[in-house]
Order: sequence, then C-alpha cells, then structure tokens
Amino acid sequence: MRIVLIGPPGAGKGTQARILADLLSVPAISSGDLFRAEIGRGTEIGDLVRRHTEAGELVPDELTTAVVTRRLGEPDAADGFLLDGFPRTVRQAELLSEALAESGTALDAVIALDMPDEEIVQRLTGRRMCPACGTTVHAVFSPPRVADRCDGCAGPLLRRADDTEETVVRRLTVYGEQTVPLLRWYANRGLLSHVDATGTVPEVFGRMRSALAAVTV
Ligand code: AP5
Ligand code: MG
Repeated sequence: MRIVLIGPPGAGKGTQARILADLLSVPAISSGDLFRAEIGRGTEIGDLVRRHTEAGELVPDELTTAVVTRRLGEPDAADGFLLDGFPRTVRQAELLSEALAESGTALDAVIALDMPDEEIVQRLTGRRMCPACGTTVHAVFSPPRVADRCDGCAGPLLRRADDTEETVVRRLTVYGEQTVPLLRWYANRGLLSHVDATGTVPEVFGRMRSALAAVTV
C-alpha cells in the first residue's frame, strides 16, 4: 500500500507511522527524519535545509521532493510505503503524483491526523528523541525507564532543535497556511480520511486502522 500521513506538528505522525508500517511491512519514510539525517551527516543538503527546519519554515518544494523521491526509489519502497510529513504543499503533492505516475503507481489513501493546538504544544515540548536509534518518547506521557536514556539503546535522549515553544507556534502557523489547503486537494481526489489524533497511542491507531479498512475494501 502507498499511504500518506498528514497532520500538524506533534499530532503523532511519526509515532503512528512506525506502528502502521510494521503492520503493513512497508518502510515509514519521514521527510523530517531525512532532513535531520542530512544535517547530522553534515552534507550539502543538510546545510541548505538547516535554516528552514530550525526556524520552523518549510524547505523549498523542489528540494524536498527530490530528497523524498530519491528515498522512494530504494528497493524497500518498491511495493509500498508510508509517507510521514510529505507532501505538505499542493505543489509537492502534484510532483509526487507525477513521479508515481511515471512508475505506473499511485497513492491508495491519505490520512489526516486532527489535533487541537493546545495539546500539540504539550506533546512537543515534552518530546525526547534518541539520535542514535530514532526512538521517540515523551517526558510525561511515555517516560523512559531511566531518566534521559533511550530504552532501546541506552543512548542519551535529546530535545529536537525545533521543539522550542516559539518554533512550535511558527510550525503550527505554517501548517495552517501551507498544508491545510492540501487537505482539500486530496479530498477532491477521493483519497482523504480524517482521524481524531487525541487519546492514547493505541486508541489513535485503532481509528487509523478503521479509516484504512473503510477506504481500501
Ligand atoms: P517533521 O519532522 O515532519 O516535523 P512535524 O511535521 O512538525 O511533526 P513532528 O515530527 O514534530 O510530530 P509528529 O506528528 O511526528 O509527532 P510524534 O509522533 O513525534 O518536520 C520537521 C521540519 O522539516 C519541518 O518543520 C520543515 O522545516 C521540514 N520539513 C519536513 N517535511 C517537509 C516537507 N514535506 N516540506 C517542506 N519542509 C519539510 O509525537 C510527538 C510527541 O507526542 C512525542 O513525544 C510522542 O511520544 C508523543 N505522542 C504521540 N502520540 C501520542 C499520544 N497518542 N498520546 C500522548 N503522547 C503522544
Ligand atoms: Mg515526526
């Protein structure tokens, strides 16, 4: 299956994508993770994207699409994928649709995770990530067994550079201005399902499975 997850920052795209991708045996591909990997490796792309991501602004469409479609060209994505956070503009969606059409494929479903702004700030200011293995926890909602240490690999847990309250507020504004119009674009193509992203991780996952079952039968 080829699925896109859209949602405001902190809606739980990454958390849910990892669980759903395991279930479907497809790779979960996060544009934000691809950018953070480029920044971490100190590549030319990393230098280009850093100032956008740290300010909470979108990376330009053509560059973003090039980075994601390069990843989609890897063998593990040949039979399906779960995209987390890409596309996030109508232009990116058009470019993705063209790229998929060239390889004779198309998206099966788009899920929008809906979440009120107040909960988002709480979720993101408490998020901690392990840069070594990618595990994400929350200081209050899902704390690690040992404070500030990853449950998976025991490495140090860090706060993301763009998880300050000021940048989170900017990311929310950018989401409203540049990504919300994309929801209508996908709705007009009969691909979009809305899922309530409040509640526990298993509750949200259950709603996602029901939404997918409804559109893929
Ligand atoms: P990206 O990394 O995609 O950030 P984002 O969209 O802001 O989303 P987040 O990763 O912050 O949140 P999430 O929805 O994945 O939530 P998570 O599961 O971690 O993008 C970063 C930047 O890269 C962008 O700002 C932009 O600059 C650039 N970029 C990326 N894609 C781009 C594109 N397509 N075009 C242009 N630029 C792009 O959960 C959050 C926290 O909540 C965690 O602590 C988690 O443990 C906790 N949590 C999750 N679910 C629950 C639950 N049900 N209950 C309680 N806690 C929960
Ligand atoms: Mg994420």
